[in-house]
Amino acid sequence: MKYIKTEKYDVNLIKQKIMGPNPLKLEEELMIDNKIKTGSIVMDLGSGQGITSVFLAKEYGFKVYATDLWSEQEENQKFFAEMGLTEEEIIAVKADATDLKYEKEFFDAVVSTDSYNYFGRDAGYLDEKLLPFVKPGGYIYIVVPGMKKDCHNNIPKELLLSWTPEQLDYIHDKEYWENIISKSKSSDIISIYEMESNEECWNDWIQCDNEYAINDKKAIEAGACKYLNFIAVVLKKK
Ligand SMILES: C[S@@+](CC[C@H](N)C(=O)[O-])C[C@H]1O[C@@H](n2cnc3c(N)ncnc32)[C@H](O)[C@@H]1O
Repeated sequence: MKYIKTEKYDVNLIKQKIMGPNPLKLEEELMIDNKIKTGSIVMDLGSGQGITSVFLAKEYGFKVYATDLWSEQEENQKFFAEMGLTEEEIIAVKADATDLKYEKEFFDAVVSTDSYNYFGRDAGYLDEKLLPFVKPGGYIYIVVPGMKKDCHNNIPKELLLSWTPEQLDYIHDKEYWENIISKSKSSDIISIYEMESNEECWNDWIQCDNEYAINDKKAIEAGACKYLNFIAVVLKKK
């Protein structure tokens, strides 16, 4: 697909800020025809160093709470100011997705790009830890790195070039996610699907010169993408 919104952003800035396969391209595909209104209060859950949060604020006009555990809150807020965004438009929050402290039903929506697979694999997560903070009728848009078919019992050698079986346990197929997400009693599934974005997003990532990208390069260059995909999940809180 053509990533018209992502193309507006400087490639070197993206390389500096991303923590995995190009999250702007993933988010752009995820958000095609999204149902979240301009001006909505949106949590970017697992926002990393905040580039996806800037994208949500600038491209969709949301008021964004960039919520992340591993990154530095102050550094992210400084980055937002450098990108011309005020604290009225975007706020950096250091928080654990499994122990959020927001007011109940504060958010109109949640968007989560390349992070939900770290904390959302417990079937109780949605109803117990995330949905209480979303208004009734609010949308949740998620994209996770996935596998075309779960192969944890017989892992292809290309994948093992970069990742251990334990690391690959964070990555699963569409059926796995359907099974977990469908246990939620507080939300309806709008769609779960395999995305078009794949190799291009991985290739953008392995151009970065950080140690994680360099590690992932071996598998991607050996053709690992034939086993991998990205999975989108769209939910609506009841
Ligand atoms: C691969 S990075 C992706 C970051 C960003 N979305 C991007 O694509 O550049 C995964 C992110 O998940 C976040 N994460 C992992 N576990 C988390 C948790 N329990 N609570 C909040 N964030 C978490 C990490 O802080 C990290 O920034």
